[in-house]
Amino acid sequence: MDKRVQGGAAPRIQTGIPGLNGREELALFICILCLYAPNITRAVTLNCSQPDAKSLYVEIEKTFYLSAVRPVYSLKTPTNVTLSVTLYSILGVDEKTQILTTYLWLNLEWYVEYLSWDPVQCGTAVVTLPRKKLWVPDIGINECMDGDTSPKTTYVYLYSSGLVSDSRPVRAISSCNLDIYTFPFDVQNCSLTFNSYTYLDYDLRVDMGISGEETLRYSKLVMTTIGEWELLDIKAIKVTQYNFSNETYDTIVYHIVMRRRPTMYVVNLLIPSCFLMIVDLLSFLLPPEAVDRATFKMTIILGYTVFLLIMNDLLPITGNRLPLLNVVFSVCLALMVASLLETIIITKILCKSNHSAVPHWVKILVFKYLAWLVRFPQKPGDQVTDTHSTTTEASSAFFISHDAMKLVEPAKDTEAQDRTRLAGPAVEELKKLSQDLLAIRSHAEEHLPDYRADDEWTQIGHIIDRFLFILYLLFISFSIITFTVFWVIWSSQ
Ligand SMILES: *[C@@H]1O[C@H](CO)[C@@H](O)[C@H](O)[C@H]1NC(C)=O
Ligand SMILES: *[C@@H]1O[C@H](CO)[C@@H](O)[C@H](O)[C@H]1NC(C)=O
Ligand SMILES: *[C@@H]1O[C@H](CO)[C@@H](O)[C@H](O)[C@H]1NC(C)=O
Repeated sequence: MDKRVQGGAAPRIQTGIPGLNGREELALFICILCLYAPNITRAVTLNCSQPDAKSLYVEIEKTFYLSAVRPVYSLKTPTNVTLSVTLYSILGVDEKTQILTTYLWLNLEWYVEYLSWDPVQCGTAVVTLPRKKLWVPDIGINECMDGDTSPKTTYVYLYSSGLVSDSRPVRAISSCNLDIYTFPFDVQNCSLTFNSYTYLDYDLRVDMGISGEETLRYSKLVMTTIGEWELLDIKAIKVTQYNFSNETYDTIVYHIVMRRRPTMYVVNLLIPSCFLMIVDLLSFLLPPEAVDRATFKMTIILGYTVFLLIMNDLLPITGNRLPLLNVVFSVCLALMVASLLETIIITKILCKSNHSAVPHWVKILVFKYLAWLVRFPQKPGDQVTDTHSTTTEASSAFFISHDAMKLVEPAKDTEAQDRTRLAGPAVEELKKLSQDLLAIRSHAEEHLPDYRADDEWTQIGHIIDRFLFILYLLFISFSIITFTVFWVIWSSQ
């Protein structure tokens, strides 16, 4: 800030010069602003005895006692303040407390009517003065919720025309209505409202120094930090604000539109979640009777819960609406739990300890309709009839062997009768054998319905498993489509 701009120097527009840091660029920017400011020619009010700093200060010092009042001859004249803002950095957004933290450079300019001198007579066109020696407008940000912790600057520029240029950094902790519905792909629109707390608009007029587009252009130029937020747009408008007694204030509102950079959230939240869902989906391929599918799914759910716990810090907690992403996570967890419940049911059905016969209506429902619905491959002979019939390959095989035994037995008997006369001990032996076979047969028949029921239950389990898997797939597709539709609706708004 120590560069002296000599009066009459040609204004040079230099922005974004490599090698200049932000602070130097700001100084340059403000100098350019000042040189562009309307050069109001006024009657010279200070006469310096010598063209040096000392005599100028002696002259200016004589007006310091007036610092308490607005610097105009007649208090009917309004003071015109020109306000320019540069957004230097977006420091953070707190969704929980709905607070936006930004770092701004604020520049205010106004004229002091009784301070002007001839640059030739006094030797300089501009001096710096301590801010507290002069009257300064009490312009602040309406949304500010907390103290400004930016470094305090103490000096202002005073030009020979009486123009005061007051630049200072502001760390604005402002409230902002954050909408996190589309987190982490959200765009926020926060406003910073500048006005005087005391002066009404007939005393103090506030105008924009540079337009919103210029502010945006310059802010993008100086913003070097690449944080979570990307500056999209700045809109500046002048509005009139009313107080309780219907008096009006001049107000400048800056709408700052910014977009979150979602990469970190996509990599840390969405992709792992998708992976776990895919594992859960593919675990349906595990045969339920051979591998403990329920334990596997339980492990996935446990892993997902731990994942959500760890990632809880990344998720915004409160806001106006629940973020769509939180709903997605809840739906994922619900789907995993549902698939675990499905596995428990299937395991129960497949359990061999279930010896009760399959109810008739269940057979009709499962073998006739569900099997057809899920295209379960059926053996040609497996038709459901009203009588007890073979339903599985295993049971039909059993029946075939059983029938074969029936055919073999009478043949054995006739052969035995033929040989009765020939050999007595052999016949006795064969009779014993025959009795044993009959015992085995009756024993087998005793247990036959159970084996058949077990096989039927197994097949029912497989058909229901496939049916629920298809339902699960349909529901996942439905969820994906729903979320996509929500997303499209939101982004087209
Ligand atoms: C400054 O000097 C000019 C003549 O050089 C004179 O007209 C004017 O009144 C003087 N002003 C003050 C405040 O002494
Ligand atoms: C501010 O502007 C108004 C109207 O443009 C003008 O009448 C007034 O003199 C200006 N105030 C100062 C201190 O220059
Ligand atoms: C930001 O909000 C203000 C009003 O709150 C609105 O006028 C402006 O158009 C909004 N900007 C964007 C880009 O949505």
